[in-house]
Amino acid sequence: MKVGLIGIGTVGGGTYKVLTENAKEILKKTGISIDIARVADKNLALAKKVVGDENKITDDAFDIVNDKEIDLVIELIGGTGIAKELVETALANKKHVVTANKALIAMHGEELVELAEKNKVILAYEASVAGGIPIIKAIREGLAANQIEWIAGIINGTTNYILSEMRENNLTFDVALKQAQELGYAEADPTFDVEGVDAAHKVTIMASIAFGIPVNFEGAYVEGISQLQQKDIAYAEELGYRIKLLAITKAHSDAVEIRVHPTLIPEKRLVANVNGPMNAVLVKGNMVGPTLYYGAGAGAEPTASAVVADVIDIVRQCKHGHGAMIPTLGFTKENIKKKKLLTIEEVESEFYLRLSMKNKTGLLANITNIFADKGVSIDAMVHKEIQDNNLDPDIFLVTSKVKEQTINEIISKIESLPENKDKIIKIRIEELNK
Ligand code: HSE
Repeated sequence: MKVGLIGIGTVGGGTYKVLTENAKEILKKTGISIDIARVADKNLALAKKVVGDENKITDDAFDIVNDKEIDLVIELIGGTGIAKELVETALANKKHVVTANKALIAMHGEELVELAEKNKVILAYEASVAGGIPIIKAIREGLAANQIEWIAGIINGTTNYILSEMRENNLTFDVALKQAQELGYAEADPTFDVEGVDAAHKVTIMASIAFGIPVNFEGAYVEGISQLQQKDIAYAEELGYRIKLLAITKAHSDAVEIRVHPTLIPEKRLVANVNGPMNAVLVKGNMVGPTLYYGAGAGAEPTASAVVADVIDIVRQCKHGHGAMIPTLGFTKENIKKKKLLTIEEVESEFYLRLSMKNKTGLLANITNIFADKGVSIDAMVHKEIQDNNLDPDIFLVTSKVKEQTINEIISKIESLPENKDKIIKIRIEELNK
């Protein structure tokens, strides 16, 4: 099997290492040797450093996707610009494609799957979600007998690292982000990590293979961690919760929700204790119940582990003369159907709210009446003791489960009270127990 590798950066370098250092192990499992015939990167010096043999390297990736000798292309440059053109050309030239490119699959998955099917080649994307965790395989194959009910995951290593460092080591957001970048977890544009876009790409892909819906990134609700305050991490902890950037997708009878946002999770849940750059994905199947997958979600070798597993899969299938044996998106083509995607206002959650109010006799009564009028129960409430140098209290509370639209109405009513000093902080809660 002749492989062309496009991109020799963090994941590309890792992939080269796994394919060469584990070549014997891979051969024992496939019976066919995998030859990295060509490597493309704009940075020829870097490519030469990794690959050694100058004859194998090129700075024009189109040399690879148009090379008649190449059977399989590994695309590791990312993004939806040139990467899309390269993947399209490779598929049109009847080459199998392995990619770690979540943005590409989340935004153009439908058309690329169709192109792969038309050309009878395989498009594989395990590394695009949760790095080294074989979550695509788990949902699409291991749990194929189940109707998936929901998925909730910590699927961005950068933000999980930042939140862990802010909580455990009192680091500021900026310092923790810089460290995550230095460690090679972050995207080329780290706003994709910090603002939840990377996690939204990944959960969009999981929603599609879990529920048999077209990949629809536009329908996802996305909120990142850049506005999160250290104070709320500490207050959440007082209530028995940790704050994580959670990616959630749930099936309803006639609709699906796809959302990414900071979320309070009970600290006793295993997933609440996933720290640093590690990822974890909880998948609830109707027969198996909840299942949990944990591992490195970013970094060179973990991500390369998933890339190479896809290569091995393709080699095995080709050896037996098959095209794709498993539908790329899990469901047969005629069973992939659009479903309504809930807007965030339609989604039901419990909420953590933090209020900044001027102290006044009767203040709490006024606040609780607003909740009661809307039929929303307050499950926990903390009123910080008034200190001499701070005459106004911090008040934070947890509500019962309610539609977000109702909570927004409550928030505007409280914010229009004369005692209100600042915007109310609202963070969604997921109990992850049903
Ligand atoms: N930037 C991503 C993360 C890399 O931090 O998880 C893996 O997709």
